[in-house]
Amino acid sequence: PEQKTALKERIKRLLKEQQAVLVAHYYVDADLQDLAEETGGCVSDSLEMARFGRDHPAKTLVVAGVKFMGETSKILSPHKRVLMPDLDATCSLDLGCPADEFAAFCDEHPDRTVVVYANTSAAVKARADWMVTSSIGLDIVAHLHAQGKKILWAPDKHLGGYIQKQTGADMLLWQGSCLVHDEFKSVELELLRQQHPRAKILVHPESPAAVVAQADVVGSTTQLIAAAQTLDADEFIVATDNGILHKMKMAAPGKRFIDAPTAGNSATCKSCAHCPWMAMNGLQNLADVLESGSNEIHVDAEIGRKAVICIDRMLDFAA
Ligand code: 13P
Ligand code: SF4
Repeated sequence: PEQKTALKERIKRLLKEQQAVLVAHYYVDADLQDLAEETGGCVSDSLEMARFGRDHPAKTLVVAGVKFMGETSKILSPHKRVLMPDLDATCSLDLGCPADEFAAFCDEHPDRTVVVYANTSAAVKARADWMVTSSIGLDIVAHLHAQGKKILWAPDKHLGGYIQKQTGADMLLWQGSCLVHDEFKSVELELLRQQHPRAKILVHPESPAAVVAQADVVGSTTQLIAAAQTLDADEFIVATDNGILHKMKMAAPGKRFIDAPTAGNSATCKSCAHCPWMAMNGLQNLADVLESGSNEIHVDAEIGRKAVICIDRMLDFAA
């Protein structure tokens, strides 16, 4: 613990010295989330991370999350330095949607409006008409559907399928998935609900349809935390990365939160529903990159210029 305290103090000093701000996702280590808040940074969902990084005057953004979050920050602020604790922290959705295959898919369907999830590479975004996050994807697709647009959606099949069902839009879906949310099990969730009949069910829409179908609230990480706070219930079953529980418990003290079942859920498995890439962010590597200035995110200027269009569209729509 002493080492931890010393590391935190070092990070605070370095953030000041470097005129840097820490932008963290709810799935990263609780210490990093707390540090972000204590030092005037932010801890939030993907949409808010993007907006915060763009609007903050700091010269350096340190993004504690995964690669697509760092890239989005860099695309929105090409003149800021964007650092990440570990450049290998990626995402199964990003990995499952290579830019060349995606471009070929788009070429086959020129009549469709291309909507991509934030969890993609800069090169995939450069090919898209719209980028969306889980907090606003449904509203944006509903808006496009109302204009009679047909959609090509990538990469998350579960989020895409959920939006398709809710909006009735014509959507052609790329078949990617999040390796964390894909593991939530619907039959086991039904059994758990029987044991906790008064619990409300909070589900991130990257989960399989049969899990989403049992939800009281479906939403982004920020929306799920808000639901835990505002819903009139003492008990919640939570189907998303368990990194979120730190903030949920702070937002709704006294309430009880139960992990939704995954294939590996058991008394011996403490980190089943936890993203291995989010877990690569720690106090030590955060301090090290601030000290050395290594692990800077670079986005090809031409790709960045194209990709910013679809991100700005989302941010303007959200404003
Ligand atoms: P949100 O925080 O935008 O809901 O995204 C969830 C996620 O999977 C990020 O990796
Ligand atoms: Fe990607 Fe899933 Fe990890 Fe989020 S939790 S970064 S969607 S693999």
